Amino acid sequence: MEKRRVYFDNNATTPLHPGVKQAIMEVLDVHGNPSSLHAFGRHARMLVEEARGKVAAFIGAKPDEILFVGSGSEGNNTILSILNSQCRMCEYNTCSGKELVTTKIEHPCIMETSKCLAERGIRVTYLDVDRDGKVDLNQLRDSVTLRTGLVSIMMANNEIGTIQDMKTISRIVHERGSLFHTDAVQAVGKVPVNVDELGVDFLTLSGHKIYGPKGIGAVYVRKNAPFCPLIRGGHQERGRRAGTENTIGIVALGRAVELRASEMADEEKRLRRMKEALRKGIAEKIPDVHFVGHPTDSLPGTLNVSFEGAEGEAILLYLDLAGIAVSTGSACASGSLDPSHVILATGLPVECAHGSIRISMGRENTFDDVDYMLTVLPDVIGRIRSMSSAYARRQ
Ligand SMILES: Cc1ncc(COP(=O)(O)O)c(C=O)c1O
Repeated sequence: MEKRRVYFDNNATTPLHPGVKQAIMEVLDVHGNPSSLHAFGRHARMLVEEARGKVAAFIGAKPDEILFVGSGSEGNNTILSILNSQCRMCEYNTCSGKELVTTKIEHPCIMETSKCLAERGIRVTYLDVDRDGKVDLNQLRDSVTLRTGLVSIMMANNEIGTIQDMKTISRIVHERGSLFHTDAVQAVGKVPVNVDELGVDFLTLSGHKIYGPKGIGAVYVRKNAPFCPLIRGGHQERGRRAGTENTIGIVALGRAVELRASEMADEEKRLRRMKEALRKGIAEKIPDVHFVGHPTDSLPGTLNVSFEGAEGEAILLYLDLAGIAVSTGSACASGSLDPSHVILATGLPVECAHGSIRISMGRENTFDDVDYMLTVLPDVIGRIRSMSSAYARRQ
């Protein structure tokens, strides 16, 4: 009998949507360079611009406010590097302030870029979050000043799923005359995102989190906002990102958002029901667990749970043996076993941070997957705890 497999790691990356796969197959033979003036080039250009229109429409932007990039990480680096730019070649030159305000729970592509900016003399403030992962708004009010050039706060957290109060944050930031960027890589395509309603100046999204391929992303740059290219060279993307366009990836991203537009609302409801069933089942079947993340303002399919007396990596490996794929906050990017900076920022003790796993569900998951998880997980946790002398001593 074939081994049962359950993919619960959709926040790491999502399986390609069959509709996106079809779109990719159709565009594989379009080899023209979108910058070429002949018919081959014009055809590729038309496809790129069509996709730009779809991405723009999906988040309530105008097509010329969308810039295609190679990943969410590149998009985030591009926007943060505006602070670093002193260059008079830039379209709108630089931000007025030179300080950055961000949070303690950002993705490493923001954290590492912030560290690099700090090395170059830019003052960076990292905002605290509460037990549910919500940003401290009073600290935000106090931290954003006339010297702040940019505030970068993720819309939804990749590890714990917490969604921030975006409208309040953007109001506070703009009242103080600063600019607001959000890393919406985990939010776009899972919950409604409209750049005007949120009041953001910059927003980043990524294809492979929404059933598109890896290696394509987009950045929203509000008209007349400051900008400075990260990659210089040719005039592609209106001089904002040099390099021949990834026509296949761009067309795929366009199709991915189009499919999200028709599937997202029903899926969101279904995933929330599945998550609740999973949360309830875990709470009933397993003692000494802590759920991390906001109970309601949260991504529909993301559940982060910490088990006392069990290491996240051990849980991951045992679940993998049973065919279930989840992730832990540590290890993933760095190969280190440091506890997750996100879980620690919520105030949970280090032991709990070590014992947490992220279950992230997506469009292909079913209630049967939830049931299977609930039959396997209690046994896995029981076995790991039975080997833990520290847990035994506590009993
Ligand atoms: C919140 C968040 N931002 C940025 C990224 C980076 O996106 P990409 O993998 O496209 O570089 C990720 C990927 O995990 C993410 O979850």
